[in-house]
Amino acid sequence: MTVPLPHPLDRPLADGQGRRITYLRLSLTDRCNFRCSYCATASPERRGEPLPLPHLARLASIFAGLGVRRIRLTGGEPTLRRDLIEIVEEVSHTPGIEEVALTTNGQALAELAAPLRAAGVRRLNVSLDTLRPATLARLAGGAASLERIRRGIEAAAAVGFDGLKLNTVVVRGENDGELGDLARFAWRVGATARFIELMPFGPGVPVPVAEVRRLLEAQGVRLAPDATRGWGPATHMRGASTVGGEAVGGLVGFIGALTENFCDGCNRIRVAADGALRPCLGGREGLPLRALLDAGATDREISAAIVGALAAKRPGHRMVEEAGQLPSMIGTGG
Ligand code: 5AD
Ligand code: SF4
Repeated sequence: MTVPLPHPLDRPLADGQGRRITYLRLSLTDRCNFRCSYCATASPERRGEPLPLPHLARLASIFAGLGVRRIRLTGGEPTLRRDLIEIVEEVSHTPGIEEVALTTNGQALAELAAPLRAAGVRRLNVSLDTLRPATLARLAGGAASLERIRRGIEAAAAVGFDGLKLNTVVVRGENDGELGDLARFAWRVGATARFIELMPFGPGVPVPVAEVRRLLEAQGVRLAPDATRGWGPATHMRGASTVGGEAVGGLVGFIGALTENFCDGCNRIRVAADGALRPCLGGREGLPLRALLDAGATDREISAAIVGALAAKRPGHRMVEEAGQLPSMIGTGG
């Protein structure tokens, strides 16, 4: 006799390890106007068209039905999408979605900060690896303009998001000498400074977060414990310093992708630019959701496929073991 099992879609989305999944990172494009050495390295894969707005809207609604409450729009560089504002409006009006966030390289932010806020973006992360033009050119390529990025960050600060973070990937010998300056810059615009361990998607030598903390202290930042828990894997400390005799301070976040157990509290799932569901950033698995959408699958069929893919999610990433074989960061969106 077969006993009917409760249908998996009637329960909140969880992965194979029992972790509740409430956060979706949705990549809008695998294109970028920058060429960050640690991200855009892989020989450009054959690029398809990014998911069109109706597919994105439908995915937002399907994931909301599965218990996702927060969506971060990523890329590549999401501001390269001409329909970005419409996408934000659509996703932020999806019943069940409580918060829409966006990650950008900041280059187009001076123009876009206010429209993005008005369309429904609540939290903004801006990548800022350096305050030195020569280092920026080396890390991100010649199209990156520090002047524009700074103006973009200032515009975002003036508009006033619920959260503004400046993300720095620490690369040994490149920007490890200006971590204190980056933290002070972030605090002066009211942002959280976040330092991320370089993940092995390309060249460059990582700096463990324990060393990042020592470098910050050596570069004039006093750090004290802080209990702030964000939505993601970052741990926080309260930092204080001085600029020209004036006291500045704020939060510092640390993402120890390689040296800390950052997978334990994983609450996320990703949809890559090609429409593949990626249960883990540091794994090769991918479920081609785009094919299901194009073929006219029902919401229930797509939901069941998502639940199935998540059941196979492993306890931790395999970034080091599978370095060189992982789908590129630029298509997965960090
Ligand atoms: N390691 C760590 N962070 C990375 N990012 C991109 N590639 C890497 C990598 N190899 C980050 C960017 C940005 C976000 C989109 O992902 O700095 O903050
Ligand atoms: Fe573009 Fe961000 Fe990747 Fe740099 S890290 S190449 S800005 S997507």
